[in-house]
Amino acid sequence: MNILLDRHSPNPIYLQIRDYLSRLIQSGKIPAGQKLPSIRSLSESIQVNKLTVIEAYSLLEADGLIHARQGSGYFVNRTVTSGFTKRSNFAPAQEVIISEGEGSFFHQYTSSIQARRQQNIIDFSSGFPSASSSNYLQKIAKRALTKTGDNVFKEDFPQGQLVLRELIAQMLVQPGLEVSPEEIIITSGSQQALSLAMQYYLQKGDWVIVETPTYHGALGILENLGAKVIGIPMTAEGMNLELLEQYLKSHRPKLIYTISTLHNPTGITTSQEHRQALLGLAQQYECPILEDNAYEGLNFEPVPAPIKALDRDNWVTYISTFSKTLMPGLRVGYMVVTGEHRQPLVKQKLLNDLHVSTVSQAIVSELLASGHYRRHLSRLRTSNLQNCNVMLQALERYFPDAIAWTIPKGGLFLWTHLPNHLPIQAICRDALSEHVLVANGAAFFPGGGYPAMRLNFCHTPEDIEQGIKILGRILKNYLTPTYISLGLPSQGRRQELGVRS
Ligand SMILES: Cc1ncc(COP(=O)(O)O)c(C=O)c1O
Repeated sequence: MNILLDRHSPNPIYLQIRDYLSRLIQSGKIPAGQKLPSIRSLSESIQVNKLTVIEAYSLLEADGLIHARQGSGYFVNRTVTSGFTKRSNFAPAQEVIISEGEGSFFHQYTSSIQARRQQNIIDFSSGFPSASSSNYLQKIAKRALTKTGDNVFKEDFPQGQLVLRELIAQMLVQPGLEVSPEEIIITSGSQQALSLAMQYYLQKGDWVIVETPTYHGALGILENLGAKVIGIPMTAEGMNLELLEQYLKSHRPKLIYTISTLHNPTGITTSQEHRQALLGLAQQYECPILEDNAYEGLNFEPVPAPIKALDRDNWVTYISTFSKTLMPGLRVGYMVVTGEHRQPLVKQKLLNDLHVSTVSQAIVSELLASGHYRRHLSRLRTSNLQNCNVMLQALERYFPDAIAWTIPKGGLFLWTHLPNHLPIQAICRDALSEHVLVANGAAFFPGGGYPAMRLNFCHTPEDIEQGIKILGRILKNYLTPTYISLGLPSQGRRQELGVRS
């Protein structure tokens, strides 16, 4: 392979190699499954150091474009969009939801954990990856404990261990965020980061902007704080910015909560232009942004840098977590806080729970420092991508035409949008009676909304095929003319079935 390099360009050589190969892969000129030249042969043919090629390949791997196979070299990933674009017809009505908060998060969280513990369930409802091998974790955990010795049992600083903050700062360079370890606060999952930030920015009775649908755990915190919620609808491109501006003007909210990359629950990732425009509006109306990037690193293809990377004046607080990539039980998340907001948030963290478990921090540090995390992410993305494709194919095959769904660029799930007259609660109940558990979309709206389901694709192809087939059959039953003419229940029964008027 020959790559034309500009050795006098300010753009470093490893980035030129990455960009060149990235273009070839994304245009299909290097097809999925093809092996890339070995590190040695490429470094010889273009006359660069082997480390330069390693650096470029690592970035392509982090972008989700290639993966390494032990002892065999680097291979091009399959991209998720090929062959499926024709059915990405997600275009919900653009209705703003104004709410005093109706969170059902507590009930939803506990009942779904309970349901998941049943045997023989195909669980499409989870917001987490399937459990990683515990052998592997035990090994890393033992090594982390041996290395840190007795220190692991001592109390620690509220901001989190410096070594972990340094490793996170290094990791964030790849998605485009340059921050110092001092600007990072380690939190008990990103749920705590959300809670700390929302308490910091909001008072009881303040207006806050969220996307609808959005992460129900965030809605739960807002309800608890007594904040008043303005739900701005998602389009296929992200939050509707025209409506956002209208409500920034009329309600003067104190915070915008956004999940810009691999949004929960829709899986949508916004473009660079959308991010720029959202930040511009936030600055214009002096409204801080809370950017939740919980699915960071799970992208199948390159995604734009976070909004925080564009923020020069400390309008954006950024949060993320290791729950979605490692194990949710570790409870390690973090926030990036710059400027005058940092010190008050560190204090608030101290008052909340002193600091995050030193054992969990040591395990995550070991995973990051040893390079295991990078390899683990690469394997996870490859298997998630395969499973996502299997689910998209199954949806094509088994779901009725009236159902729309999103095509995510990564993450763990996709979002299906059902016609308005379908009784979502009854559909979820029928599915559970056939051992298929789905996340009822109603939980992701602060009241109102449309019938929808979030479907996690981290399953074996057999389970996906079987589960989607069952769901497809149930949905078709509710769409038959007989159901529509005879089955539309009375008002009382409509409420019981969760039918929206
Ligand atoms: C968007 C989003 N933010 C935050 C969280 C909280 O995750 P954790 O506290 O496990 O990091 C979740 C979990 O589902 C989520 O989906």
